[in-house]
Amino acid sequence: MKQTLIVGNWKMNLNTQQASLLVKRLDDRIAIHRDIEVVLAPSMLVLQPLSLQIDRRKFRLAAQNAFYKDEGAYTGEVSFTMLRDLAHYVIVGHSERRIYFHETLEVVRDKVQAAIRNNISPILCIGENKHERAANETKRVIHDQLTTALSNLTAEEVEKVVVAYEPVWAISTFGGEIAKPDDVQKVFKMIRGHISELYGSKASKAARLLYGGSVNADTAAGYLAIDGCGGALVGNASLNYHQFSGIVEAAYRLKHKAKA
Ligand code: PGA
Repeated sequence: MKQTLIVGNWKMNLNTQQASLLVKRLDDRIAIHRDIEVVLAPSMLVLQPLSLQIDRRKFRLAAQNAFYKDEGAYTGEVSFTMLRDLAHYVIVGHSERRIYFHETLEVVRDKVQAAIRNNISPILCIGENKHERAANETKRVIHDQLTTALSNLTAEEVEKVVVAYEPVWAISTFGGEIAKPDDVQKVFKMIRGHISELYGSKASKAARLLYGGSVNADTAAGYLAIDGCGGALVGNASLNYHQFSGIVEAAYRLKHKAKA
């Protein structure tokens, strides 16, 4: 059985000292679970010091973004190549990046490709905004985002991509409405359906699907219990050690209930 992936996206919060303190607190509360993969996504600046601090049996690191060129005259950017030994994952196409930094479908595609080229698993975020949802366009948006993002990959490479369904309207930054697990399940089905059409059923079955959007210790189990859900991408609640360790605990309990 695949590991459940719980990712904490700290966004633009926590300096090195604050991040170190949070990791210490999480380390005290989170046990080593072989079937749960706990990933922390701190700011770029904090990745290196945290890589020296974390217990690698418990935590892995992700970057929140990277640039698609491997090196060169791109002032201010950090490449996937530079992150190779530091991060297992890179979050790509988060709605805050699409909205605030105008990342287009093509930029997201190039970043996904750069991640794969550098042997890093991209956590590709997709999801409709509230207007698209109201207009019943979820299926089209998911299709367009997914098709473009994966378009330069082979079926084998697609298997390395983690897809996070994050409806924009459910992210705390953009309204934080609570999505119903039943609705999330329908979109998971759409995602697997699209991947299957484009890359075949093997890639579709292998795809790890996460849910993200206002997940906390109380709501996590509802999403994690969805058939085929591979984990959660957690924003706000990942900054609070009670909340985040509660989410990991919920994932653990579900796994063991499922095994029993
Ligand atoms: P949230 O953020 O949990 O604060 O809604 C999720 C995300 O932005 O990845």
